[in-house]
Amino acid sequence: MSDARPNSRLPGFYRLPLDERQAELARQVGLSSEELALLASGGIAPAGADRMIENAVGIYALPLGLALNFVVNGVDRLVPMAVEEPSVIAAASNAARLVREGGGFFADSDESIMTAQVELREVADIASATLALQAARDDIMARTDAALPRLRERGGGCRDVEIRALPDRRLVVHLHIDCRDAMGANMVNTAAEALAERLAEIASARVGLRILTNLSDRRMVRVSGKVPFVALASDKPVEEGEALAHAIAAASRFAEDDIYRAATHNKGIMNGVDPVVIATGNDWRGIEAGAHAFAARDGRYRPLAVWRVQGDGLVGRLEMPLALGTVGGTLQVHAGAALALRVLGVKSARELGEVIGSVGLAQNLAALKALAGEGIQRGHMALHRRAVGKP
Ligand code: MEV
Repeated sequence: MSDARPNSRLPGFYRLPLDERQAELARQVGLSSEELALLASGGIAPAGADRMIENAVGIYALPLGLALNFVVNGVDRLVPMAVEEPSVIAAASNAARLVREGGGFFADSDESIMTAQVELREVADIASATLALQAARDDIMARTDAALPRLRERGGGCRDVEIRALPDRRLVVHLHIDCRDAMGANMVNTAAEALAERLAEIASARVGLRILTNLSDRRMVRVSGKVPFVALASDKPVEEGEALAHAIAAASRFAEDDIYRAATHNKGIMNGVDPVVIATGNDWRGIEAGAHAFAARDGRYRPLAVWRVQGDGLVGRLEMPLALGTVGGTLQVHAGAALALRVLGVKSARELGEVIGSVGLAQNLAALKALAGEGIQRGHMALHRRAVGKP
């Protein structure tokens, strides 16, 4: 096993036959022959599938490809993407190459805070229950930590308690828990169930639902990237790059002003996000739910990424919740997911989120660039024809 960082700039990679691409990947990341074999098997055997879900009858496969050219916070990343849609990986790689010319993606992220919701019903008196819960904050946090001893050992634990009022004499208590490198669904659900009776007692209320929220808005990833006009111009005059930058910014404004466009704009972002989430064995339904709830957080559905012309280039910014794990869950049983994490070379769930947010922003840039220029159909349909085996 090698710890050398790969070079993600591999011109001509797409022209190589599949086995030579595998060999290049093995060279870049230092894969063993057993690990290489996982690329053909998909990473789970029927017996593994049988342990993972109920009534298993087989394995459903997706192509796994590598997006190239990504530099995130100064580090080159080869990005594994599991996806059935032609042109997604080519588009992400092309856009990442443009952003690379502006210095790559810059990303930061919150601690891995996952939130449990405990609903309290038939609250005797909302104001005094709120005060009582506030006064018991330290005790609630200590009890939450006590319910999750292994997480405490890993440096995680309860970070905050929040109380929200709902109509019809209901309160919701949020337990904000740092889950470190785990996605954390099981942990926060355990905490919610462990704490519920005590919270109801304090609030003189009845216990309602006890479950995580997928709107993990204390687990945000923020990414920015700049494409210089000269890079957008490619080998044409720089003015053409500048004009394209303005056209992309106008496409961003369309999404900012119109919910119908925002939905498609965000779909393009999820074209980049989901394939990496899937390849790394993470819960893409949770990611999707969180992304769209966040997009609609102030009552109006908005784009998760926007683009502006700034100085000598085009600057994009993405902000979205990403609840991801690099330990536990599917990763324990899915060797293909563990391999994808190895290829990415991320050391923590937060780093994984920063890379995935960057892929989302790249995918968005690729879509807007095509839509603002020649449209997507020419390139997309050529790749689609290849995928379905037509000349
Ligand atoms: C197609 O899968 C995704 C796009 O529609 C995204 C967009 O319109 O921004 C091209």
